[in-house]
Amino acid sequence: KSIDAIFKGLGKLYFGTCADAGSLGKADNEAVIKADFGQVTPENSGKWDTTEASQGKFNFAGLDTLVNWAQTNKKLVRGHTTVWYSQLPSWVSAISSKDTLTTVIQTHVTTEIGRYAGKILQWDVVNEMFDESGGLRQSVFAKVLGEDFVRIAFEAAKKADPAAKLFINDYNTVEKGSTYAKTTGMIKYVKKWIAAGVPIDGIGAQAHLMAGEAKNVPASLAALCAAAPQCALTEVDIVNASPGDYVTTVKACVDIPNCVGVTVWGVRDPDSWRASNNPLLFNSAYATKPAYAALVETLGAL
Ligand code: G3I
Repeated sequence: KSIDAIFKGLGKLYFGTCADAGSLGKADNEAVIKADFGQVTPENSGKWDTTEASQGKFNFAGLDTLVNWAQTNKKLVRGHTTVWYSQLPSWVSAISSKDTLTTVIQTHVTTEIGRYAGKILQWDVVNEMFDESGGLRQSVFAKVLGEDFVRIAFEAAKKADPAAKLFINDYNTVEKGSTYAKTTGMIKYVKKWIAAGVPIDGIGAQAHLMAGEAKNVPASLAALCAAAPQCALTEVDIVNASPGDYVTTVKACVDIPNCVGVTVWGVRDPDSWRASNNPLLFNSAYATKPAYAALVETLGAL
C-alpha cells in the first residue's frame, strides 16, 4: 500500500509531492508519483515570475501541463502560489499606488485561479507574508497596502474559484515550537482576518525541517490548526530524513482531525532544492529510503 492509500484510509485527503512539467516528463519520476502520491503541487510553474512576467501577458504553459497531468491521472492539485514576495517580477515590486496594486493583485489572482476553477483542491493564495517576529514581512504588498492586501487577494480568489479551499502558507511555523513568535503571530492575524470575514479556509505549514526539529511539530501544528477550518503540511523535507523525524512530522497531521494532508517537497533527493541534505523519501535511484518504510509501517498500523 502506498502512503497515499494509507492516508486516505485514515480519513485524510492526500499524501502529495511537488512536481512540474520537467519532473513529470521523466518516466521514472512520473511512475513514482503515479504509484505513491495522491496530489501534486506545482513546484515553480504557478509563481508570478512565470505566470505573469510582464503585466497582462500570462503564461500558463507549465501549469496547464501539471493540471492536465493530474486530471488524466486522477490526482488532486494544490495550487501554489499567487501572492508571494519572492519570484516576483520587478514590474510588480515597483508599484507604489494603492489603486494600481489592488487592481494588479485582483487581475493576477482572478486570472490564475479562475483558469483552473473546479480543478484545484486548495490554493496557496498568499505565501510567506510573515517575518520571524510574527509581523508582516515588508514586501511591496505590505508596504503599499498594509494587511489589506490579504483581504484583497482572498476575496478575488474566492470569486474566481468558490470551490477551492484557500490557504495562507508559511515556513518556520512548526519548526521552532508553538510559542515561536512567527507561529503565534500567524495565528493571531489569521484568527482576526477570519473573524472579519476574509475567506481563509486553511493554514499551510511548509515544514522545511532541520534534523531534530520534528519534535516541535505536533504542538505547533495543533496550535495553527486550531486557528482555521483546515490546515496542512505543505512542503515537507527534513535534513537527513531520519525515520523518526519523518514519522513524528507526518503523524502530527494524522493526529489532528482538520489537518487534511501532507505534501513532501519533491520525490528524489538529487532533485530537491536542498539536494545536499538528502531530505526526501526516495534516493537517486528512485528507491525508497528508510523513512518511507517507517511511515508505511507506523501509519499502516494505525
Ligand atoms: O528554470 C530556470 C532555468 O531556465 C535556469 O537556467 C536556471 C538557472 O538558475 O534557473 C531555473 O529556475 C530555477 C527554478 O527553481 C527551476 O529549477 C530558479 O533559478 C530557482 O530559483 C528555482 O528555485 C525554486 C525556489 O522555490 C524559488 O522559487 C525551487 O525549485 C523550489 O523548490 C522552491 O520552492 C519554495 C516554495 O515555492 C516556497 N517555500 C520554500 C520552497 C523552497 O525554497
